Formats: sequence, structure tokens, C-alpha cells
Amino acid sequence: MLKDQVAIITGSSQGIGSGIAKYFAKKGASVVVNYPFDGEAEKAQAVVEEITADGGKAIALKANVADEEEVTKMVEDTVKEFGKLDILVNNAGITRDSSVKKMTVENFKMVINTNLVGSFITSKIAAEVMASQGYGRIVNTSSIAGQEGNFGQANYAASKSGVLGLTKTFAREYARKGVTVNAVSPGFIRTPMTDAIPEDIRNNMINEIPVKRVGEPEDIAAATAFLASKEAGFITGQLLPINGGLNM
Ligand SMILES: NC(=O)c1ccc[n+]([C@@H]2O[C@H](COP(=O)([O-])OP(=O)(O)OC[C@H]3O[C@@H](n4cnc5c(N)ncnc54)[C@H](O)[C@@H]3O)[C@@H](O)[C@H]2O)c1
Repeated sequence: MLKDQVAIITGSSQGIGSGIAKYFAKKGASVVVNYPFDGEAEKAQAVVEEITADGGKAIALKANVADEEEVTKMVEDTVKEFGKLDILVNNAGITRDSSVKKMTVENFKMVINTNLVGSFITSKIAAEVMASQGYGRIVNTSSIAGQEGNFGQANYAASKSGVLGLTKTFAREYARKGVTVNAVSPGFIRTPMTDAIPEDIRNNMINEIPVKRVGEPEDIAAATAFLASKEAGFITGQLLPINGGLNM
């Protein structure tokens, strides 16, 4: 499905991102496992080693998605290593939850800066490379919180709604250049981000999900791989919710 494709997956040293990186490699892509700072290098390298042990191709590259210079270097290094860039998955994301009353402006800006400004920077740089090749696929990560809002997540929900506006605008601007831009919107997925939720609250959340389970990173990876494939070339500017029916 992704044979001979070259993909950057941002924030892929753990969680959904590492699931996407491994899935993409299994489907034939050469994968860049991106991580934000030195402290994450070992985890990123472990993902690379798992992929290569399985016969896949991967390298780890450090770049904070909110830093234009670092992202430029990551994209250049990707093209140097693999010869091109076909796919960008903007998966990197953070939370800094608290009620609006307690949320500091600093925490609001921090989440917007990583989740939304970061997605803008990576997409802007990657889209130009893709446009020059006449082909590309960008898949952004929104969230059910961006569709519905969520108590304690004004910063995060705003960033994830913003990702939708970004997706649709990039889709319009790059459609004629062979680049499609879509977004996935995960519901409740099992990752380190959600493992931090207390068990009783987690069980209540599962009860609300029509399919009665949390999603796995592979659920997001499979949908992302489809949107990132050549076969999905007539789909652009769309949001694909993946949430076990939690939002219909
Ligand atoms: N887990 C869920 O239920 C859920 C639901 C909806 C949306 N999402 C979204 O899915 C994506 C992945 O979430 P996850 O649950 O795997 O989270 P996670 O915290 O396990 O992983 C996030 C990754 O992003 C990386 N990252 C953070 N800041 C970065 C930066 N500035 N530059 C580069 N990388 C950076 C981290 O190092 C980490 O590897 C996020 O965008 C998140 O908002 C998750």
C-alpha cells in the first residue's frame, strides 16, 4: 500500500506516532521517526531498531516541530537519506489540561504552539518539497476534542479545531500540485497520554463508546495509511473521525 514511499511521522518515539511508524514500515514505506529533544532519542532509536529488525527501513531525526530551522533540517536530511518526501504525518502533540479559570495564558500558548503552529511549520516546509515533486500526502491529527470541545482542554481543543482549518486551507492551496491534505480525528486511544487518566474515569469513558473499547494506535495507523496512500488521491480537505462511534 505504501511501497517505496518516504514518510515523516512527527512525534513517533511513542504512542500513536510509533504505531503509525511501524505500520507504515510494514506497508513498505521508508520512515523517519521524529522526536523533539535529546531525552527522547533512545526511545526513537528503539522504534527504528524494531522496524529494521522486521526488515523495514527507518531513521530517527530530531526536530521540535515548532522550530522552523530544525524542521527545515529534518526535511532536508530526509530527502538526502531517501531521495524524496512523499508523506508527512503531523502526529506530534501535547496537552496542558486545566479548567479555563485555572488555565494560564502561557499554557494556552504552549499547546497552540506545538499542536497548531508546529503543524503549520512542518506542512509549509514539506508541502513545498512535495509540490516540486508533483506528488504528496499530508495527514494531520485533530481530535474529538477539536470537534466537540472538552472540559479542561480549551487550549488543546482550540489547537485541534485549528488543525481542521489548516487542513482545509492547505488542501485548497496544494490540490493542483498533486498534494492532498486530510486529517484524522482520534477518539479515546490507548497511549501514554491516556494511560495517565485515572482508572475509574477511564472505565466511565469506555462505557460511553458504542464499540465498548478504547482505540489502539493501530486503529489510527490503518486509517492514516489509507489517507496517505496513492489510492486516496481523490480525497482532500477531509476529516476522518476514528472513535468507535463516540461521535457520529
Ligand atoms: N491518545 C488519544 O486518545 C488521542 C486522542 C485524540 C488525539 N490524539 C492526538 O494524537 C497524537 C498522538 O498522541 P499520543 O496519545 O500518542 O500522545 P503521546 O504523548 O504518547 O505522544 C506524543 C508525541 O509527540 C511528541 N512531541 C511532543 N512535542 C513535540 C514537538 N514539539 N516536536 C516533535 N515531537 C513532539 C512526543 O515526544 C511524543 O512522542 C497527538 O497529536 C494527540 O493530540 C490522541
